[in-house]
Amino acid sequence: MLAARTRLAQSLGAALPRTTTLARLGRVHLPALSTSSFLARRGFATTGAEEKTVPYTADKLTYLKRDPAFNQITEEHVAHLRTLLSPGSLLVGQSDNDNDLLPYNTDWMNKYRGKSQIVVRPRTTEEVSKVLAYCNEQRLAVVPQGGNTGLVGGSVPVFDEIVLSTNLLNKVRKFDPISGTLVCDAGCILESLENYLGDRGHIMPLDLGAKGSCHIGGNVATNAGGLRLLRYGSLHGTVLGLEVVLPDGTVLENLSTLRKDNTGYDLKQLFIGSEGTLGIITGVSILTPKKPNAVNVALVGLKSFEHVQQAFLGARENLSEILSAFECWDKSAAHLVQAHSVQGNRNPLAEEHPFYVLLETSGSNKEHDDEKLGAYLEKLMENEIIDDGVIAQDATQILNLWSLRESIPEACSKSGAVYKYDISMPLPVFYQMVEDVRARLTAAGVYGPEKMVTDVIGYGHVGDGNLHLNITAKKYDGEITKLIEPYVYEWAAKYSGSISAEHGLGLMKAPYVGYSKSGPMIDMMKRIKKVFDPHGIMNPYKFLPQ
Ligand code: FAD
Ligand code: MLT
Ligand code: ZN
Repeated sequence: MLAARTRLAQSLGAALPRTTTLARLGRVHLPALSTSSFLARRGFATTGAEEKTVPYTADKLTYLKRDPAFNQITEEHVAHLRTLLSPGSLLVGQSDNDNDLLPYNTDWMNKYRGKSQIVVRPRTTEEVSKVLAYCNEQRLAVVPQGGNTGLVGGSVPVFDEIVLSTNLLNKVRKFDPISGTLVCDAGCILESLENYLGDRGHIMPLDLGAKGSCHIGGNVATNAGGLRLLRYGSLHGTVLGLEVVLPDGTVLENLSTLRKDNTGYDLKQLFIGSEGTLGIITGVSILTPKKPNAVNVALVGLKSFEHVQQAFLGARENLSEILSAFECWDKSAAHLVQAHSVQGNRNPLAEEHPFYVLLETSGSNKEHDDEKLGAYLEKLMENEIIDDGVIAQDATQILNLWSLRESIPEACSKSGAVYKYDISMPLPVFYQMVEDVRARLTAAGVYGPEKMVTDVIGYGHVGDGNLHLNITAKKYDGEITKLIEPYVYEWAAKYSGSISAEHGLGLMKAPYVGYSKSGPMIDMMKRIKKVFDPHGIMNPYKFLPQ
């Protein structure tokens, strides 16, 4: 029998051509705003040859009523807003169906669509302050928007709210290479920041498949988790300071670069994960780690989720300080990526496996890390915890393996419609939710060949106890939604999980927050909202139950 290490290396040699050209920083390139491909993404769902307009959220979710406390936008409002902004910063549609505004009205999943006719794109914090103060005074509702990659319907309007986009707030303010602190505008694209830091020997403490489009302000506003949380922790730890504009125009300037500061309430924490409901984040100060000298990535195939857990336990024990990611997906997710051939991905393992795990190590000594990873994988093979695996041999192969994981959301969204759930829960029941939902939809007769539901997929950040359950269907359908919700939320509550691990609440989960937070806690959140935003103009209808 071949030594496990030799088998891994051979398997790799056969499967990952060195000639593949994937650029590390463009793992999943989302279409940029206002390109011609936008119509296919925002506003028009493309299912095969057929093009269908995304229905208005207000027509689908009829329990939502426009709050009459908000004024309708008039020509006088538009004229005044124009005086507050630099030229070219205001977009005014002729109708809510206007192509220029469609990208701002429609979300990444083509699930939610608002009716806004005004997009303001301030270039400075001062402009944001003037716009918000005016909107507050005139009782005009505002939806803050970054890269519009949010997955819970929080980043687009429901009715005619003004969209305040951070697109043009996109400058790095300063970087200190000694402490690694970066201070930048909220509208900087995550990938641009990663590039900027890469040239200076640092990395961002967070990484997402949406990095090509999402903004750091949007990341902070959603408290995004992503692929590096296991190693570098959440934004509640790495964000050192924020600059925030409150609805009345007050600028809370706290772009601290200090690691320690115990002077009073830590107000920035309230804005991390507040999803645009308390104010607009205009600047971010964030601690960035040194770029690791040695990065290794391995992909392994496993028989069951029980084996995935054993592999994870082993990774914590044997790779401990160098383990930087432990991501898992099931066979259905792998199929979908192959079927949609996102970025020409193909499975480098010779055979199909029920589960796949991508694990990454990041350290300072390549030889040491290679040895540790090799010994760990060998042990897993010997104990039959993994059935096959490959280790990337160069930067291109690292990218290829990562893109198998990062392409999953895009592959799911190509199926027509995707119902996304993002649950935190104890690892022993992690995958059981996927199986239970599959069984439920099968029993209801809606899942299977030629049926409405085409796939039930599980993937996620096992290292963080965060499952992504995705249900793909031919189209969004109220009856299917009723079969899944609140079932999934009840399920999460039963196992003391959270109904939103990292995507936030937005419009989608606002009515269900009670499954994860007690009445008195929700009450306190409502009171906090009132303190910051007494007229409720910031991102209405979202985040908290109405
Ligand atoms: P938007 O979508 O524009 O906005 C999101 C929310 O934040 C909205 O409520 C909006 O009102 C508010 N907001 C935006 N900017 C500001 C601001 N400056 N001030 C105040 N409020 C603001 N999420 C994860 O956590 N982990 C992942 O691994 C991950 N991967 C993804 C992969 C793909 C392919 C996609 C499409 C999405 C993924 N997401 C992930 C979800 C999403 O990308 C993140 O939530 C991201 O942080 C949103 O940033 P954004 O700039 O696009 O914000
Ligand atoms: C991911 O982990 O890929 C993201 O959170 C996006 C998603 O869940 O689809
Ligand atoms: Zn995720």
